[in-house]
Amino acid sequence: MKTAQRIETIPPYLFAEIDKKKAEAIKKGVDIINLGIGDPDKPTPDNIIKKLNESVLDPKTHDYPPYEGTAEFRQAVALWYKNRFGIDLNPDEEVMALIGSKEGIAHIFLAFIDPGDFSLIPDPGYPVYKTGTLFANGLPYIMPLLEENGFLPNLEEIDEEIAQKTKIMFINYPNNPTGAVADKNFFEKVVKFAKKYDILVCHDFAYSEMTYDGYKANSFLEVDGAKDIGIEFHSLSKTYNMTGWRLGFAVGSKEAISALSIIKTNIDSGAFKAIQRAGIEALTGPQDNIESMNKIYTGRRNIVINGLNKLGWNLKPTKATFYIWIPTLSNMKSVDFANLLLEKTGIIVTPGIGYGEYGEGYVRIALTVDEKRLEEAMKRMEKAGIFQG
Ligand SMILES: Cc1ncc(COP(=O)(O)O)c(C=O)c1O
Repeated sequence: MKTAQRIETIPPYLFAEIDKKKAEAIKKGVDIINLGIGDPDKPTPDNIIKKLNESVLDPKTHDYPPYEGTAEFRQAVALWYKNRFGIDLNPDEEVMALIGSKEGIAHIFLAFIDPGDFSLIPDPGYPVYKTGTLFANGLPYIMPLLEENGFLPNLEEIDEEIAQKTKIMFINYPNNPTGAVADKNFFEKVVKFAKKYDILVCHDFAYSEMTYDGYKANSFLEVDGAKDIGIEFHSLSKTYNMTGWRLGFAVGSKEAISALSIIKTNIDSGAFKAIQRAGIEALTGPQDNIESMNKIYTGRRNIVINGLNKLGWNLKPTKATFYIWIPTLSNMKSVDFANLLLEKTGIIVTPGIGYGEYGEGYVRIALTVDEKRLEEAMKRMEKAGIFQG
């Protein structure tokens, strides 16, 4: 049996490798503290679960859903956008439901990339930007995210010839894995750049609500003209602790939404209507859970930042996401550092190289365990005596 070449070009899915290492350590009886995976540890809020329970019992939810999402779900998204960002969206043309934002992110490349076209992707970055490009026989062109630039890409460094052959640019703020945020000024530069080269900007906004110390993230679509050239991918996964439910949405340019819908109508058949009803409850019901989750993440962030700074790191408190992006010790390779940490302390972190070559020299810590376990993690690192940053 001969598989397609594209299978061979795809690196092993990052989290599968971590899972394997974790299983081996557990087998040996190690008390693992897993800071490797960005999956909220708290349950979905009760009102959302209740709405799903009711909705499942209604036979009207049992048939094929509309490909683009139910009208009610799209209206709820538009309302949420209006309330949160002051942005007007036409729910019929500028909003589309997704089976989780990963699904839309992976598929948008098929709608825009022809063989040989370039996509501009951040590095380090969410791995799907690269694999999505490769699946469409496109050429990923890396935009390095460097600490000295606040982990923002330097658009002036993008090769003119490449820019002319580019169809899609991905950006992601608040950012996974670095925790960096972007302001409107940066988004304005992106819009200008995209207009100049006729590029679709895809802003991955999965962590829009996970912000701290009074900081609120701006939508890319708040910038004048952004909606002409861009779409924003959104997710209920992190905002409402709904990773397993698989519900997200894309909003913005109606041409892009329409192109994406052509791909999707030929690949999937939409998100379960009962889950969309629960999604409406999430978006239009009480929002206090977001604030209480952010309080929890702030407490956890403080434990890790203070703990690591005590060991000699020099980390500033992150404004967003539940990730802490830390340099390894003495320029150690990220995989070696992650392995050493697992071996000496039983702590799992994600090696930065999994997010691209510019992730080398860093590891990502996810704040997805409770304060006690994070304190224990910091204690173990201190006790090991070798983690003096
Ligand atoms: C940056 C980023 N974008 C998108 C996603 C996908 O989220 P979902 O498919 O659950 O909406 C994730 C998940 O971890 C992510 O970190």
